[in-house]
Amino acid sequence: MNIQTLLTDKINQAMRAAGAPQESDALIKQSAKVQFGDYQANGIMAAAKKLGCLPRQLAEKVVEQLDLTGIVEKVDIAGPGFINLFLDKHWLAKQSELALADSKLNLTITDHPQTVVVDYSAPNVAKEMHVGHLRSTIIGDATVRTLEFLGHHVIRANHVGDWGTQFGMLIAYLEKMQNEHAEDMALSDLETFYRAAKKYYDEDAQFAEKARNYVVKLQGGDAYCAQMWRKLVDITMTQNLATYQRLNVTLGIEDTMGESIYNDMLPGIVADLKNRGLAVENEGATVVYLDEFKNKDGDPMGVIIQKRDGGYLYATTDIACVIYRYEKLKADRILYYTDSRQHQHLEQVWLIAHKADYIPDSLKLEHHMFGMMLGKDGKPFKTRSGDTIKLNDLLDEATERAAILIRQKNPDLTEAELNQIVDAVAIGAVKYADLSKNRTTDYVFDWDNMLAFEGNTAPYLQYAYTRVFSIFKKANIALDSVTGEILIDDEKERALATRLLQFEEAVEAVAKEGLPHILCAYLYDIATLFSSFYENCPILTAATEQQKQSRLKLAALTARTLNIGLTMLGIKTIEKM
Ligand code: ARG
Repeated sequence: MNIQTLLTDKINQAMRAAGAPQESDALIKQSAKVQFGDYQANGIMAAAKKLGCLPRQLAEKVVEQLDLTGIVEKVDIAGPGFINLFLDKHWLAKQSELALADSKLNLTITDHPQTVVVDYSAPNVAKEMHVGHLRSTIIGDATVRTLEFLGHHVIRANHVGDWGTQFGMLIAYLEKMQNEHAEDMALSDLETFYRAAKKYYDEDAQFAEKARNYVVKLQGGDAYCAQMWRKLVDITMTQNLATYQRLNVTLGIEDTMGESIYNDMLPGIVADLKNRGLAVENEGATVVYLDEFKNKDGDPMGVIIQKRDGGYLYATTDIACVIYRYEKLKADRILYYTDSRQHQHLEQVWLIAHKADYIPDSLKLEHHMFGMMLGKDGKPFKTRSGDTIKLNDLLDEATERAAILIRQKNPDLTEAELNQIVDAVAIGAVKYADLSKNRTTDYVFDWDNMLAFEGNTAPYLQYAYTRVFSIFKKANIALDSVTGEILIDDEKERALATRLLQFEEAVEAVAKEGLPHILCAYLYDIATLFSSFYENCPILTAATEQQKQSRLKLAALTARTLNIGLTMLGIKTIEKM
């Protein structure tokens, strides 16, 4: 149940009945201050302007037409023509009951499931995942989990960088390694592997020649090269899958849709774009000139789709990829999680695909881009020696730091308990620190903040969950077996219940725009509201049995909301910490 949608429908109806123009909208928002009620309608002024009447007069007419009996207990007209709405506490109680009784908290499960392709993580073969892949991986995964929860058909697309001319040098290097160091062929350090291959390529002419030769062979389908290539991909993906598991990310091997799978489509696309007059030859290369993008001289920008040596580019693959997702995967919507530097690239790819009529306008293409992770000095987050930080090193450090903190707080835990808590807290803290920031901007990575037990952090929310949970343990009842009815009397009960019922509005920000920071802020609100409810409204020592049951139910709804919300974010809850 979405209160905002419900009120929007009702007020829009009343606005029509009061003579407001058809297209005007009530603009319902959650109120920022209690004196403005729970929600307010901000759309009256604009509608009145169109009608040429006084906003307050229109507001009065709208309120006359408004039927919110049983939902709202008070309606105020304020200022130039705002309508403030105060929700009815009996209605809040009833809606809380409905949420609690439903395994999905009474969220609106879609009756028009969309096929949504989510392009995320996308590491590169023979390289270790670094902090840049963290953002794509976890923001994408939060969206995937949320969309699936709401009933959509989600296809995870891990657009792994597994193709390109660099594979010649990688195969040549793998071969060299196998011949010279067959025993330590674990490739445990992919980063060194890639760098070493590049070094040979740059310094050893014979090696470079062989590498170039292997590119041609690989592209021509040569069995030996294909087998070596497979090995490189497998080793990399085995390592990445272990990282996904560690990160509690839902990507599996079956979600790998690397660049290589589009290889066969590329020649046909280049030929077709030429036939349509969209692509032209320029000094041996094939280029699509786009009027919509200008280069620094103010001329149409050229996107190269085939190099002079016949090689294809990142853009060519992405054109094939969008066609594939539309035609084969039957996508209604495609979400791309890459950093903002790839924005122009994607816009150009989509524009070319539209111009060639490969995809219709109805296909929704969204780049959910993000900024960078910065160090405390405000510069891109790097190691002391200036290298990019490997994801696994970051997670190791988080685990070490969390272990120290948790051990200090709970010296009596068994080793197994400790490990479980440390894992949830360490990984949760890193993920939450990222997810709780607006993805559109850069953010500063700060160990102390993310592991703090106070403030908008994973440990704080995980701890809040354990506190609610412990009330039930103390009372010796299960979360789902509270009887009685929810009664809302105290202001703290009201505030908590109202916010609990706004869960869907927060979830929508993730599903529609891929903005998990809104869900994070919401869960943080829930945890703080619960805390002041708990301080002011005794639960186990409530005045009456009826009140005790009611408060236990609000506590149960809090626990379930925190649990489902954190699960959508890919963050584990624990029962004690
Ligand atoms: N592999 C790329 C990188 O590491 C990201 C791929 C994003 N997806 C896409 N369809 N281009 O930057």
